[in-house]
Amino acid sequence: MSRVALVTGGSRGIGAEISKALQAAGYTVAANYAGNDEAAAKFTEETGIKTYKWSVADYDACAEGIAKVEAELGPIDVLVNNAGITRDAPFHKMTREQWQQVMDTNLSGVFNMTHPLWNGMRERKFGRIVNISSINGQKGQFGQANYSAAKAGDLGFTKALAQEGARAGITVNAICPGYIATEMVMAVPEKVRESIIGQIPVGRLGEPGEIARCVVFLASDDAGFITGSTITANGGQYFV
Ligand code: CAA
Repeated sequence: MSRVALVTGGSRGIGAEISKALQAAGYTVAANYAGNDEAAAKFTEETGIKTYKWSVADYDACAEGIAKVEAELGPIDVLVNNAGITRDAPFHKMTREQWQQVMDTNLSGVFNMTHPLWNGMRERKFGRIVNISSINGQKGQFGQANYSAAKAGDLGFTKALAQEGARAGITVNAICPGYIATEMVMAVPEKVRESIIGQIPVGRLGEPGEIARCVVFLASDDAGFITGSTITANGGQYFV
């Protein structure tokens, strides 16, 4: 029987490529999404991957959503915490709402999704958790005090949980994508985006598939000795 993978924010952007790549690698995939029903329906139509709607910022909704996925597809073996939002503003203009929304989704969302799954993975003595952090959690970014803090928090979470999961056969790793050609990056003002591309040594934005292939590797049996690690995939823009 194929393993079951759940990808949050899995019907658009990097998440959609992750869902498709895991499906191609033989997993039964569930894609969570929060808002865009139209995109989710189109994604299911094109790929056959089931989509499930809830907000990762809501703990109870996560627990219910996970229970539903497990009832329909079986116990979740692989969790990809990919869902994320931006609310960019220089700090002097940043509102408490902009701070809180990003924290709730990008940091608490990772807790909310992992916590209800954790004991099941421990009992079954197998699990793969892959957290999609960001280059901006590593280096910080002007206009992203909220996002950079949350994404850096995801890295601390990854390293702590890796130690707790190791004896139970659960690996917990992170990927830090650089600037990838998705709607999120395209929303950055063009002039700013052009200047960012100028700082990427390979001279281009990354492709979502370049992140998805890292996820497939970390989820595989071949990656069983890798835990607490961060894969940096940013075209050489920042070295850790
Ligand atoms: N370093 C130094 N100064 C900067 C700067 C930078 N990186 N970016 C902007 N500034 C300066 C501007 O030049 C401007 O200075 P002046 O007033 O002297 O002209 C000042 O800051 C204010 O800039 P704006 O008028 O543009 O302010 P704004 O409120 O309209 O917007 C911003 C500011 C929202 C931060 C905008 O610059 C922006 O969107 N920046 C990009 C942030 C970014 O990289 N986001 C990543 C999104 S993609 C993502 O998050 C995915 C991932 O993981 C990589």
